[in-house]
Amino acid sequence: MNTVNSVLRILSDGQFHSGSALGDALSVSRAAVWKAIQKLQHEWHLRINAIPGKGYQLAVPLTLLNKDTILSAMGPQFQSRLYDLHVLWSVDSTNRYVLKQLSGDAGPGLAVLAEHQSAGRGRRGRHWASPFGRNLYLSLLWEFELDAAQLSGFSLAIAVAISRALAKAKIGDVMLKWPNDVLWQERKLCGVLLEMKGESSGPWQVVIGIGINVNMDSITKEEIGQPWVDMQSILGQHLDRNRIAALILKELLVAVDQYQRLGLAPFLPEWRARDICRDKLVELHFPNKILSGTARGVDNSGALLLERDGVITPYHAGEVSLRF
Ligand code: BTN
Repeated sequence: MNTVNSVLRILSDGQFHSGSALGDALSVSRAAVWKAIQKLQHEWHLRINAIPGKGYQLAVPLTLLNKDTILSAMGPQFQSRLYDLHVLWSVDSTNRYVLKQLSGDAGPGLAVLAEHQSAGRGRRGRHWASPFGRNLYLSLLWEFELDAAQLSGFSLAIAVAISRALAKAKIGDVMLKWPNDVLWQERKLCGVLLEMKGESSGPWQVVIGIGINVNMDSITKEEIGQPWVDMQSILGQHLDRNRIAALILKELLVAVDQYQRLGLAPFLPEWRARDICRDKLVELHFPNKILSGTARGVDNSGALLLERDGVITPYHAGEVSLRF
């Protein structure tokens, strides 16, 4: 483990540690400790109190992600359905990491979590702000024996799976924006990026990428170009991300199995009950045009129904924005 990671691991106990004590513990110079602290503050955006005579202390508590804690919170029945769980300190993007493993021996059920993403990917080529140790950045690989048309509603099923997990974490009132944004009081709480590889007749390998704002910090606020919220502000307490990761993984494993057997049908009532756009004026954005109309829910395949001039048309692509 490099000096930056080791310093952070020691500081994660929330206590003060002097530069010389850190240097002694890690067998490095005080200058090396100082460099590591600079990196944690300026590149990883961690707030660190530095008090002369006392040393360094993390300003906000940090419970690091831990593979064993997550697996034991999932319980043996769900653990056995994972191929493996990789918990990384820093990666460009957990989705990219999983996609790169596809050429090797990665199997369905490979789950990857990272403390930090240097190039977190959002939909439509957008950046996903991924500060260290604050949120969840998770990717799960799954394989479906389904054709492309049967998979078209899958992203809605994932949004429902996330809303089921959040309800278990006592956030029962999320709304969904087609196809899979998870919102709380019109602010974004989670985003989903699905990346798929396969032949049109199947099978398909699907990387389910999920970003959940858990304990977002103030430093990152300016980086996000849309209204957002985190679980900590909703519940009024700092949350253990290991417990939330276990809840999400369990619901994802239930959802992929349900979707493979039954398709979108078992998810539709919940999706429709949480549909934030229904009967509202929306804009559907495409790279070369914007369609305005009234959202009329989703059809049984998960397509957005858009009413324009009295005609309702299903759409499988596009980005919806609400015209409040
Ligand atoms: C969106 O734009 O709403 C989708 C955001 C998806 C972010 C997650 S974080 C984990 C996974 N890895 C990525 O690079 N992106 C997804």
